[in-house]
Amino acid sequence: MVYKNYSLKNYNTFGFDVKTNYFATFENKNELITLLNDFENQPLLILGGGSNILFTKDFEGLVLQNNVKGFQIIEQSEEYAKIKVGAGENWHTFVLHCIENNWCGIENLSLIPGTVGAAPIQNIGAYGVEIKDFIESVIALDIESKEIHQIDVLDCEFGYRDSLFKNKKKGKYIIIEVVFLFSKIPNLKLEYGDIQNTLKNMKIEAPYTIKNISDTVCYIRQTKLPNPNEIGNAGSFFKNPEIDINLFKKLKEEYPEMPFYASTLPNKIKIPAGWLIEKTGWKGKKYENVGVHEKQALVLVNYGKGNGQEILNLSKQIQNTIKEIFGIDLDTEVNII
Ligand code: FAD
Ligand code: EPU
Repeated sequence: MVYKNYSLKNYNTFGFDVKTNYFATFENKNELITLLNDFENQPLLILGGGSNILFTKDFEGLVLQNNVKGFQIIEQSEEYAKIKVGAGENWHTFVLHCIENNWCGIENLSLIPGTVGAAPIQNIGAYGVEIKDFIESVIALDIESKEIHQIDVLDCEFGYRDSLFKNKKKGKYIIIEVVFLFSKIPNLKLEYGDIQNTLKNMKIEAPYTIKNISDTVCYIRQTKLPNPNEIGNAGSFFKNPEIDINLFKKLKEEYPEMPFYASTLPNKIKIPAGWLIEKTGWKGKKYENVGVHEKQALVLVNYGKGNGQEILNLSKQIQNTIKEIFGIDLDTEVNII
């Protein structure tokens, strides 16, 4: 069924009431190809859970929501499991399914909103883990040729909040399924931020299980990040900038307390954008209908009656301040439409 002039209010976690000319969902490759053929000349947007999208205006084209479901064990042994998952499966439900089956590794990625199919797009990451380390391949439809390609992880060009699908192949592929490879032997990642303190506070004792780590990550996230069902947001609005080492040294002299992390890029250091934004006084600021979250400065929020333009304007003002004060360009993580 194709809906006309359809509201996307319930399809983006900012909760903005924009419209699309046409809206449909697809459950498999054949349905998808039929829709693509029927709307060949329309601008196209593929939607998962809408948790990393900012709509600044109505969408003049076809929005297709991915609803490809299913889990399939392709291979397993005592040590590992190779699993194929439909791109329309909910991410957190999938994480819980892995934990139940003792498929280890993505417990630190608990409670990230959205779908399995969107996870490779920006190489989702949290609490010291990125999904790229558990992907074997991505199965996607090439929009032009309508052929299915199985793209090996080594060809996905994954980086921090980055992939082939955001760059060279942006708008070229629709991800249908993702193949994951998990160890059945836990290799817990406890180093990031508050994980160990929270385990202690929650009176969870070692040896820890992957379920313990998932519970801890869920708890930390619930205390820090606004729940989109209560207050519209799309998680971190900006990426943490990776700055040149010389600029880093200069800033560190002026701001010795500035936190920093190693970057995988040569001669770069990663700086938490939340700290930069807080330092410049933006944290908790409210402008009529939108604002900067009071507990996490990296998250821009819709208090209910805002619109995408207001969020975009606010984000530009923040970018200008950060450039002026620190000489750093902040890139957006959220996809702006
Ligand atoms: P959407 O928002 O629907 O789409 C995102 C982009 O991917 C769009 O460009 C869309 O066109 C494209 N896309 C989606 N599905 C497909 C597909 N099947 N094929 C091709 N293109 C597709 N992200 C993190 O990395 N780490 C976090 O810790 C984190 N925390 C968050 C916390 C909150 C409260 C919120 C609201 C968001 C958070 N995010 C985080 C961002 C977001 O959850 C992830 O980016 C998630 O993977 C987006 O999934 P989605 O299905 O909602 O994608
Ligand atoms: N910080 C501040 N003020 C703030 C927020 C953060 O000073 O308002 C400082 C903290 O004190 C800490 C540092 O910044 O020293 C890092 O903070 P935090 O651990 O909260 O993580 P983040 O860098 O702000 C990143 C991801 C999140 C992910 C968390 C946990 C990006 C852009 N964001 O946030 O991902 O959940 O780490 O790993 O990399 C998302 O992508 O949407 C997202 C929520």
